[in-house]
Amino acid sequence: GKLFLLKKQARKVTVVAHRGASGLAPENTIAAVKQALATHADFIEVDVHQSKDGQVVVIHDATLDRTTTGKGKISDFTLAELKELDAGVKHDSAFANERIPTLAQVIKAVKGKKKLLIELKKGEDGYYTGMEQNVLNIIREHKAEDWTVLQSFYDPILENIWKADFVIPTHKLIVGKIPFLPVYIDHTLKFGSFDKYSEAVAINIHRYFASKSFITSLHNQGFKTFVWTENKPENIKRLFELGADGVMTDNPELVEWK
Ligand code: G3P
Ligand code: CA
Repeated sequence: GKLFLLKKQARKVTVVAHRGASGLAPENTIAAVKQALATHADFIEVDVHQSKDGQVVVIHDATLDRTTTGKGKISDFTLAELKELDAGVKHDSAFANERIPTLAQVIKAVKGKKKLLIELKKGEDGYYTGMEQNVLNIIREHKAEDWTVLQSFYDPILENIWKADFVIPTHKLIVGKIPFLPVYIDHTLKFGSFDKYSEAVAINIHRYFASKSFITSLHNQGFKTFVWTENKPENIKRLFELGADGVMTDNPELVEWK
């Protein structure tokens, strides 16, 4: 089924197409971005890494093996070499010849028609030199400052963004240990103080940690919260009822306004 939200509700909640509309097309490709543009999603989320020659590319893992026809670390290949790989065929042969996009190509495809949530990852061997500044430069070059948001799990990455000479909103991603227990139990989590994230607009959490009490406590500390990744319409609805400001989903096509 689908989740139908009233237009009134839709103004208050944010639907995020996770890795593009990755339920419909290979994750983090231009095909997934285009599918997401055709949905009611407000944001498109993508992940970025950096090539050997310092180009920012859109892919989830630090290695090529799972989603492309290549093998090994992204940081061991130049952009020209990465562009030879197929990033679609492993998802479905109908998407053969889809390429690993650069961040610039994704920005050009989105063109401000939706917001873009860019997650900065780290490499197998640690942080990518200069990636934060490179991402900011690409955003500025394409005049995308008004519709881009940056997120990361890693404090050193966020700190580099906060030190930069112009401001893009940031979200801090957190995840704790997820024991084998049912989701949505209403427990108070012990993530410690979020004071050091005061520059972030939101603290984004795994759905396992989405309880009314935790979401309320984040709101009381002045943060919004987006929850990842929920693909069942009834569960997306439940997260909004708990107070989540945004929900990341591989299936934004299942959420409609009426
Ligand atoms: O947007 C948050 C979520 O994408 C973080 O997890 O592994 O899908 O990048 P991951
Ligand atoms: Ca991500």
